[in-house]
Amino acid sequence: MSRQPNIDRITPIDKRNSYQVYLERAVVVFDGFKALDIEELGVYYNELRVIIGPNGAGKTTLCDVISGRTPLTSGNVWVSGVDIMRAGDVEIAGMGVGRKFQTPTVFDSLTVWENMDLALPRAKSVFPNLWFRITNAEKKKIETILEQVGLATEMSTQAMYLSHGQRQWLALSMLILAEPKLLLVDEPAAGLTDRETELTAELLLRLKGQHTIIVIEHDMEFVRRLNSFVTVMNEGKVLAEGKLEELRQNDEVAHAYLGR
Ligand SMILES: Nc1ncnc2c1ncn2[C@@H]1O[C@H](COP(=O)(O)OP(=O)(O)OP(=O)(O)O)[C@@H](O)[C@H]1O
Ligand SMILES: [Mg+2]
Repeated sequence: MSRQPNIDRITPIDKRNSYQVYLERAVVVFDGFKALDIEELGVYYNELRVIIGPNGAGKTTLCDVISGRTPLTSGNVWVSGVDIMRAGDVEIAGMGVGRKFQTPTVFDSLTVWENMDLALPRAKSVFPNLWFRITNAEKKKIETILEQVGLATEMSTQAMYLSHGQRQWLALSMLILAEPKLLLVDEPAAGLTDRETELTAELLLRLKGQHTIIVIEHDMEFVRRLNSFVTVMNEGKVLAEGKLEELRQNDEVAHAYLGR
């Protein structure tokens, strides 16, 4: 990923078009409290961007804005060059924004395969027809994704018997199936074992380059493994940006977050 060296010389319109996600003077106020107050933030197409910051920094609010769940109080946000301020979350989802919430949204009583079948973008099928609608191409696609996340051997396991990590990967797999342009992943390592955390990082690294991925995470070991460009948020603002090792040298960042 090469950073554009002279970003400040680029006109606003070019910025909107060169980023998958671009926010400008983006403010969200909840009951008089500024939860988000971003002067400028851009995430490139097919970049893997990590967002860190202390509790209440506005990270989830940022994802809510990008996915259309929370409107900006003022300012602008563009996704794929399109101003999403007037679009609803359904339209935005239609633009290819996929989102994984902290609690995985999988159906416990269904098997891994059945969950994937239901997540197929075309197959909003009624249950008795579950097996009829699926094409060979779709089957292949499901198999490929499940292999990538290490769930190929669990295809006929009911989701309730999966580990927390496996459920997270299933939820991610269901998202990937829809081939989102932009994946928003909020705290994927929360509650995972060290090994599961490691595997989740590997999974995101494998997906890197195929989608634009924004990952929010507290786990510094996980962030280190992702080895990607990091945005540090604090009190609704972008406090600093850079590689993790650069940010470690930044006193302000250390004070607000890393030094905790
Ligand atoms: N719907 C809401 N109504 C009122 N205040 C809210 C709402 N959503 C978030 N906030 C407040 O906005 C601030 C930012 O919250 P946000 O959830 O974005 O933080 P975060 O960086 O994701 O924190 P965490 O690391 O704990 O998940 C917090 O002070 C929170 O209490
Ligand atoms: Mg949050």
